[in-house]
Amino acid sequence: MMERRALGTSGLEVPVVGMGTWRTFDVRGADAIARCRAVLDEAYAAGATLFDTSPMYGASEQVLSETMGARRKDALVADKLWTPDDDEAERQAQRALRWYGDRVDVYQVHNLVRTRRRLALLQRLRGDGKVRVIGATHYQHAAFPELLALMRAGDIDQIQIPYNARDRLAEREILPAASDLGIGVIVMRPLGEGTLARMPASRELLAPLAPFGVATWAQALLKFILSDPRVSCVIPATSRPERMRENARAGEPPWFGAEEREYVAKHCG
Ligand SMILES: NC(=O)c1ccc[n+]([C@@H]2O[C@H](COP(=O)([O-])OP(=O)(O)OC[C@H]3O[C@@H](n4cnc5c(N)ncnc54)[C@H](OP(=O)(O)O)[C@@H]3O)[C@@H](O)[C@H]2O)c1
Repeated sequence: MMERRALGTSGLEVPVVGMGTWRTFDVRGADAIARCRAVLDEAYAAGATLFDTSPMYGASEQVLSETMGARRKDALVADKLWTPDDDEAERQAQRALRWYGDRVDVYQVHNLVRTRRRLALLQRLRGDGKVRVIGATHYQHAAFPELLALMRAGDIDQIQIPYNARDRLAEREILPAASDLGIGVIVMRPLGEGTLARMPASRELLAPLAPFGVATWAQALLKFILSDPRVSCVIPATSRPERMRENARAGEPPWFGAEEREYVAKHCG
């Protein structure tokens, strides 16, 4: 069964595997939207029900809303504010609240754009009971010092960062600080935007990981991340229903020990 973990000390519990929507849900037309709905069907069936989106992702926010439909109440939505303009930030929030039943569970400042102003808006929305957890995110290592400063100042309860078996910089300062400060960690790009998942994996390579319920290399990559207890949730994106099912299976214990984690990292070069 899918494990659930505390999102830091925020009081929110999340499934360890969720789903991203960058590119995959930025679609138009009935057929493409039906395919997104089929991906979501698998996510719901597996309990992988934290969905990450952003106004930066084109139609994704709206397509996510449309394909969840009445199931919205059974999922957690992690959305973002992404604009240098204060009025547009208000509009982004009003649109999101309309799409997601007057509630955004995790609301993040995207790419640290006008962070102070955006955090003030998010705090107001949290005060109104429309937002549960406030966070911040950036996809670049160069932004880690700014993220750390926000974490240490007590301004945020959650971060979203890049971390995977090849990109391990977060282990140096970000993950220890998150653990010390009780900050929830959502991991973006867990499959290296697909490049790591596409690496050929022989039966021999996967054999030592079979006792951990791992049958595919993508599952090994996701389990590498989730075996670090400082991580709350990974959000792999996929446009294929069968891959959503495959990815969700990585959210079931048992977890790797240090030896298996190094084994996976070593094979990522
Ligand atoms: N905050 C930020 O600045 C930021 C930046 C980047 C991303 N994000 C968030 O993080 C999410 C995930 O990151 P990402 O989409 O960049 O990369 P990712 O999840 O690491 O990789 C997604 C790619 O992996 C492929 N894939 C998925 N499952 C697979 C499997 N089981 N086997 C083989 N290939 C598989 C997908 O292709 P198919 O569609 O063909 O399956 C897709 O091309 C995003 O969707 C977004 O929500 C946030």
